[in-house]
Amino acid sequence: LVLVVDFGAQYAQLIARRVREARVYSEIVPHTTPIEEMLAKNPKAIILSGGPSSVYEPGAPSVNRAVFEAGVPVFGMCYGFQAMAQALGGEVRRTGVSEYGRTPVTVTVPGTLLSDVPESHRVWMSHGDSVVAAPEGFTALATSAGSPVAAFENLERRLAGVQWHPEVLHTEHGQEVLTHFLHNIAGCHPTWTMVNIVEEQIERIREQIGDRRAICGLSGGVDSAVAAALVQRAIGDQLTCVFVDHGLLRKGEAEQVERDFVAATGVSLHVVDAQQRFLEALAGVSDPEEKRKIIGREFIRVFEAAEIEVIGEAAEHGEKVEFLVQGTLYPDVVESGGGAGTSNIKSHHNVGGLPEDLEFSLVEPLRTLFKDEVRLVGEQLGLPAEIVWRHPFPGPGLGIRIVGEVTHDRLETLREADAIAREELTRAGLDRDIWQFPVVLLADVRSVGVQGDGRTYGHPVVLRPVTSEDAMTADWARLPYDVIETISTRITNEVREINRVTIDVTSKPPGTIEWE
Ligand code: XMP
Repeated sequence: LVLVVDFGAQYAQLIARRVREARVYSEIVPHTTPIEEMLAKNPKAIILSGGPSSVYEPGAPSVNRAVFEAGVPVFGMCYGFQAMAQALGGEVRRTGVSEYGRTPVTVTVPGTLLSDVPESHRVWMSHGDSVVAAPEGFTALATSAGSPVAAFENLERRLAGVQWHPEVLHTEHGQEVLTHFLHNIAGCHPTWTMVNIVEEQIERIREQIGDRRAICGLSGGVDSAVAAALVQRAIGDQLTCVFVDHGLLRKGEAEQVERDFVAATGVSLHVVDAQQRFLEALAGVSDPEEKRKIIGREFIRVFEAAEIEVIGEAAEHGEKVEFLVQGTLYPDVVESGGGAGTSNIKSHHNVGGLPEDLEFSLVEPLRTLFKDEVRLVGEQLGLPAEIVWRHPFPGPGLGIRIVGEVTHDRLETLREADAIAREELTRAGLDRDIWQFPVVLLADVRSVGVQGDGRTYGHPVVLRPVTSEDAMTADWARLPYDVIETISTRITNEVREINRVTIDVTSKPPGTIEWE
């Protein structure tokens, strides 16, 4: 275990992921965690992240010297580097030269940390203060225009640091430098592999659940599918999955859950066909928030009724269902409390706000994993690629991609158009470059067209391909023209109601990804 101490940088999660890419397990702790608590976790190393503050700012988060004296290897980045320098008697000064963004550094002495890294390379910096003298016993390894000492190490004490951000993509050789620290200075063994994760989780789930029963709601998305598959692997038929088909999924998705997922995992599945019920509840409603509320409310009702049915069936065999499986991910856990000092904290209902009278104990086998790791676990478990590599999809589904009232026919129209767009994106090999590709039906808009000899008066669809890293911000994706052309031609030829295809070229902000 490597601890990443979060000083309020948005980089802590990225650092934790990069550590895991070096095959070493990592967790994030807020900088307010007492040092005794950190050491009690028995970390093999501690990484001090960057932070927004200067070490000289009043109220700057301080670093307890004890962290450097516990005999645990420590790596400081950016703010963490300066804090280490200052705590150990080096000199940090406001030199007047700030460095932001891509910055050339020169390696003066490679040492262990920078061995095999080119003498001149470019790294990502973001700092005002600089280290002008390394603490006693440390070797200065690199320098840049604004940082007399841009990296140092003390092999005897297994302490090291860099002024830059090795975790960001724009830093050349960043992963190498981090790996040198982890493997060669801290002596961490690269044992964090997907096979190990799967085996360890299966073991834990068996311990937690024993011979009792569990239930899991499947949404069609990656997280619930992988969580369910893991638990199935661990406890077999003691798990029942519930899938509510609300009729707002895309073409083929319900079948993927009901047929392909079951075939791949052997899970016992309880399907509720609630399509009619959702259509009735949505009749006459056009307001987006109203639609969301109705879909959310109906979903909970149907799901709870299904749960009660499953519990009832178990009871007939003299058994109780005591566990609820959820696909909670590590970023949800960090953002809901693990991250004191980070600037935006969301609260996720599946972590913090469960009703107190919840009757289930939670099983959350993905709680320590990032999304990309969840996908790898899914692959390891043999889940179909269509599920494992699925784009994020909103809970209210196509219900919020029809601008206007949701009806059966409109859903069918949108499903056809959406399927064509996805098919062509896949054919072009672009699935993994695009974060999400909503297709939106403007059901209340009509425009005049001409097809064959006849005048048409149909609806437009909007293509909304976006790139993003976390859905908080996004940019419109520059799809190749020939891909757009094929999608447009196919949709207008194959989907009767649609006579016009448009493309949304708005970033987020000011737009959102979805139209409603
Ligand atoms: P926006 O449209 O706000 O979307 O840029 C950001 C991300 O959230 C998804 N989204 C939702 N997910 N329930 C969900 O579970 C919702 O009501 C909802 N609205 C938007 C959207 O698909 C994107 O990934």
